[in-house]
Amino acid sequence: MKALVTGGGGFLGGVIVRMLRERGDEVRSFSRGEHPDLEDMGVEQFQGDLADQDSVIKAASGCDLIFHVAAKAGIWGRYHDFYQTNVVGTENVLAACRNNSIDRLVYTSSPSVVFDGSDVAGADESLPYPDRYEAHYPATKALAEQLVLAANSPELAVTALRPHLIWGPGDNHLVPRIVARGRAGKLRRIGIRHKLVDTVYVDNAAKAHLLAADRLSPDSPAAGNCYFITNNEPLPLWEMVNRILAAAGVPPVTRSIPPKLAYAAGCFCEGLWSLLRLSGEPPMTRFVAHELSSAHWFNIEAAQRDFGYKPEISIEEGLALLRQSFLAGNR
Ligand SMILES: NC(=O)c1ccc[n+]([C@@H]2O[C@H](COP(=O)([O-])OP(=O)(O)OC[C@H]3O[C@@H](n4cnc5c(N)ncnc54)[C@H](OP(=O)(O)O)[C@@H]3O)[C@@H](O)[C@H]2O)c1
Repeated sequence: MKALVTGGGGFLGGVIVRMLRERGDEVRSFSRGEHPDLEDMGVEQFQGDLADQDSVIKAASGCDLIFHVAAKAGIWGRYHDFYQTNVVGTENVLAACRNNSIDRLVYTSSPSVVFDGSDVAGADESLPYPDRYEAHYPATKALAEQLVLAANSPELAVTALRPHLIWGPGDNHLVPRIVARGRAGKLRRIGIRHKLVDTVYVDNAAKAHLLAADRLSPDSPAAGNCYFITNNEPLPLWEMVNRILAAAGVPPVTRSIPPKLAYAAGCFCEGLWSLLRLSGEPPMTRFVAHELSSAHWFNIEAAQRDFGYKPEISIEEGLALLRQSFLAGNR
């Protein structure tokens, strides 16, 4: 099998690539930059931007399936930039499937596509999309997910996976942010109530992609559907944060601020950053304030039932691996 992985040099994409190579599949990666680690794994690299349809079509030529993992993540930035990568990029991946007669597409979505700021406790995939979003990332990921699911047909079987808060060695988003802010003493718990949150160890999220791809065909139950992917071990958010900090040798967060204050700070920072066109990300946004003060954990029975997903690495085991990676010099 020859697979195209968009964003194969990224955090999740890198682990999907490694797993595909370990079982002997041929892999090609598509992204803007060059990623030397991929070269070492024998992965063919095509460089280009997802927004450039010709580049994506060329990169998919000769492939049997696509894992569309690449996206623009983040809590701040111009809508246009998120739209170009996440929505136009996904349209181009669909065009690449059609132009190259590729009949399977696994799309990496996000549970944030159904997040409306309120508690989500044990929800399954029947949870609807909200009417409005507090950030461009979930808004554009939701548009992309809907495009993908609508493209399901006898010629192209598609499925969308929604891994929640991926973490592990090599993480370039969640873990480094928590650790940097924890080291600087800038982390505050939002609220004092123990709201449960799901996360997923990166190898489990990657394995879910391979399992879904292997079972995907026009007749399979996964075709045209989306799935929450988690470790199935919801924990109070701040306990999980403190366990990640402990793995990095950083003291736990003890101080807290009320959720309403965090939300007000988010509104203020967003206004300031927009007005003064400040660079970088604001320290707080409305989306982050809600994410950090609400429950969000999910029912993963559908993924278990339809393609045999089972989290193989527990949070405890994942944290031990994270600790080892910090000891080995990963900051
Ligand atoms: N991390 C999480 O907690 C989380 C949770 C839920 C869902 N997800 C989803 O999981 C996927 C992977 O996330 P990740 O955490 O692994 O992100 P990541 O490490 O930032 O990887 C994203 C990759 O996409 C590539 N990319 C970005 N923009 C591109 C563009 N315009 N054209 C071509 N390539 C582009 C980047 O490579 P170049 O810079 O070389 O282009 C990068 O390697 C995303 O779809 C994300 O929405 C992540």
